Amino acid sequence: MWVNVMAGGAARLPRHETRARAGTCKDATGMTHAINIIKQEHRNYLALLMCLEHLVADLKDSDPRAHCVLFHAIVDYIESFLDRYHHPKEDEYLFRALRERHPDSEDLIRRLEQQHADGYDLLKELKAALENLEERGGPGMARFAEAAKTYQAHQYDHMRAEEMEVLPLARKHLSAADWQEIDAAFTAHDDPLFGDDRRAEYRKLYSKIVRMAPQPYGFGIKQGG
Ligand SMILES: [Fe+2]
Ligand SMILES: [Fe+2]
Repeated sequence: MWVNVMAGGAARLPRHETRARAGTCKDATGMTHAINIIKQEHRNYLALLMCLEHLVADLKDSDPRAHCVLFHAIVDYIESFLDRYHHPKEDEYLFRALRERHPDSEDLIRRLEQQHADGYDLLKELKAALENLEERGGPGMARFAEAAKTYQAHQYDHMRAEEMEVLPLARKHLSAADWQEIDAAFTAHDDPLFGDDRRAEYRKLYSKIVRMAPQPYGFGIKQGG
């Protein structure tokens, strides 16, 4: 079922909707534009992590090097989009505003900032394990599987904390002016500041992953088929 989530496309809302919401702050369900974008990006991220998890589990008896191009594409997407834009914007806009408006959230914010920092380090280990896998094939699989498992568990916890703890507090304590600033920062992903070319690059990379991931995870060659 999650394949449909992954094949649904990179973080994106219909452009007419993003334009309409940018000025109004909240949609009909009371969600701000930034919250919708963050949740959509989490869904895409989750789909990638699940793809990685299932591929690693299924590859135990086959040559893992055949899938290194796909693993690289997944890691590249995480590094070039999520680690460069998603997480830093949460730090710089969402967490900063919540810290100011609701000082009791300090411990929570610190924990999540630390998780961002730890996530960058864990991704470095995942990349190193991937290079080792490419060089050594099967004997490199245990390290890669362990690195992938650790990274996924960390990111699942992190997204859960953001969605279950941070976003509800932010909805409760942030002002309309705060949301305007946060919405503008996240909307910049698909506005001139960010650039359509750059956004198109990430969509292309995400689509490439969906095309390469074997069925039933994506649209690629069926495993064992
Ligand atoms: Fe985050
Ligand atoms: Fe996030």
